Amino acid sequence: MSTFSSETAWLCLAVTAALGGLVLCKLKSPGQVGGKGVCLAALWGGACLLSLSLFWSLILFSLSCFLLYYLSGQELLPVDQKAVLITGGDSGIGHALCKYLDQLGFTVFAGVLDENGSGAEELRRTCSTRFSVLQLDVTDSQQIKDAYSKVVQKVQNRGLWAVVNNAGILGLPADGELIPMIHYKRCMDVNFFGAVEVTKAFLPLLRKSKGRLVNISSMAGGVPLFKMAAYGSSKAALTMFSAVMRQELSKWEVKVSSIQPGGFKTNITGTSEMQIKLEKDILDHLTPDVREEYGQDYILAQKNVFNAVSTYASSDVSPVLQDIQHAISAKSPFTFYTPGSGAYLWLCLVSFSPTGIFDYFNKKFNYLNNGTPRILSMPNWKNKAM
Ligand SMILES: NC(=O)c1ccc[n+]([C@@H]2O[C@H](COP(=O)([O-])OP(=O)(O)OC[C@H]3O[C@@H](n4cnc5c(N)ncnc54)[C@H](OP(=O)(O)O)[C@@H]3O)[C@@H](O)[C@H]2O)c1
Repeated sequence: MSTFSSETAWLCLAVTAALGGLVLCKLKSPGQVGGKGVCLAALWGGACLLSLSLFWSLILFSLSCFLLYYLSGQELLPVDQKAVLITGGDSGIGHALCKYLDQLGFTVFAGVLDENGSGAEELRRTCSTRFSVLQLDVTDSQQIKDAYSKVVQKVQNRGLWAVVNNAGILGLPADGELIPMIHYKRCMDVNFFGAVEVTKAFLPLLRKSKGRLVNISSMAGGVPLFKMAAYGSSKAALTMFSAVMRQELSKWEVKVSSIQPGGFKTNITGTSEMQIKLEKDILDHLTPDVREEYGQDYILAQKNVFNAVSTYASSDVSPVLQDIQHAISAKSPFTFYTPGSGAYLWLCLVSFSPTGIFDYFNKKFNYLNNGTPRILSMPNWKNKAM
C-alpha cells in the first residue's frame, strides 16, 4: 500500500483512469470492451504493482495515448468518389444515408423498392450527377442480378468500394405465439435472405476493391426484446452472418461491420392502414383456443407496440449515418456500432449480466412489455394452473 503514497503513482493512476474512461466512452461495441478493458486493467494493475517513477509514468501515459489512438480507429480514408451501394433507399435511414454520402462526395447507387416512388424521385432531384437509382427488391433474384450488371457497367475500372445492406422490415411486433408464420418468413426473406443474396452477388466487386460490407442489423438482433420474435430473430441471423463473413473475408482484406441501432423514427412502423392489416392477419391466423386465452382486447392492443416504438424513438438519425460513414471510411472500422440511446447499455446488459438480472430489467423497464392476456388476469388462473 505504500506505493500509493507517492504523488507520481497517484498522478499516473489518475491519468490512466481518465484515459481509460475516455477509451470506454469512445467504445461503441460490447465486443470491443473485452480486449480494451483487459488492456486498461493491465495498465492499472501495473501502476499499482510498480512503485512508479516519473519515467514509468511517462511510459504508461504514452502507451495509453497510443492505445486510445489505435483502438478508437478514427483515421479516415479519402472519399475520392468511392462507389457505394445502399439497399432500401426509398425512405428512412437508407434514404438519408444516400443523401449524406452523396454530399460527402461518394458515388452512391441507391437500391430502391420502387424506382418510380416518391423516395426515388426525391433522391434523383436532390443528389449530384454521380448518383444513380437502381430498382432493387432484395427478395427478387432477377432484380439483384440486373442491379449488379448496372453497377458493373457504371463503375467499370473504378470498382465498388462498399455495400450497405440496409433494406429491412419490422413486420408484425406481437407476442411470438400470435405472429403468423407468414410474417416470420417475410422478416427472414427481407432482413436476412435479401441481405445474404445481395452480399453474395456483389462480393466479387468488394473482394477486388478490398472494400467494405456494412450490414444494418438491430439492437433487437442481440437483445431479446418483447414482441420482436420475428424481427429480432431475422436480425440475429444477420448479425451472425456478418460475424462469420468478417472472419472469412479478412483473407481478402474486405472489412465487415454490423450496425445495431436502437430506436429511430422512420417509416419502419408503417402506415396506420398497414397496422390495421397486420392486426387482421393476427386474428385470421389464430386458432379459437389461442384467441380465447389471449382475449380480443389483448390481441387488438398489439398494434399499440407500433406507437410505443415511435414514441420512444429518436427523430435524429444522424448517429446512425455517422456510424455507417465510419464503417465505410475508417482505416480500422469497428466490428459493431450501436447508435441510439440505450442500445449499447442493453447489449452490455444482455452480454455481461446473469440472465436473471437481464430478465428483471427487461420486464421492468422495457416499454414493449405491456398488457396481460385475458386468461392470466382471471382471479382463479393460478389455482387452475396448479
Ligand atoms: N428505425 C429504427 O429504429 C431501426 C432500428 C434498428 C435497425 N433498423 C434497421 O435499419 C434499416 C432501415 O430501416 P428504417 O428504420 O430506415 O425503416 P424504413 O424507413 O422502413 O426503411 C426501410 C427501407 O427498406 C425498404 N424495403 C422494404 N422491403 C424491401 C425489399 N424487399 N427490398 C428492398 N427494399 C425494401 C423500404 O421500402 P418502402 O419504404 O417502400 O417500404 C424502406 O425504404 C432496416 O434494416 C431496419 O431493420 C432500424
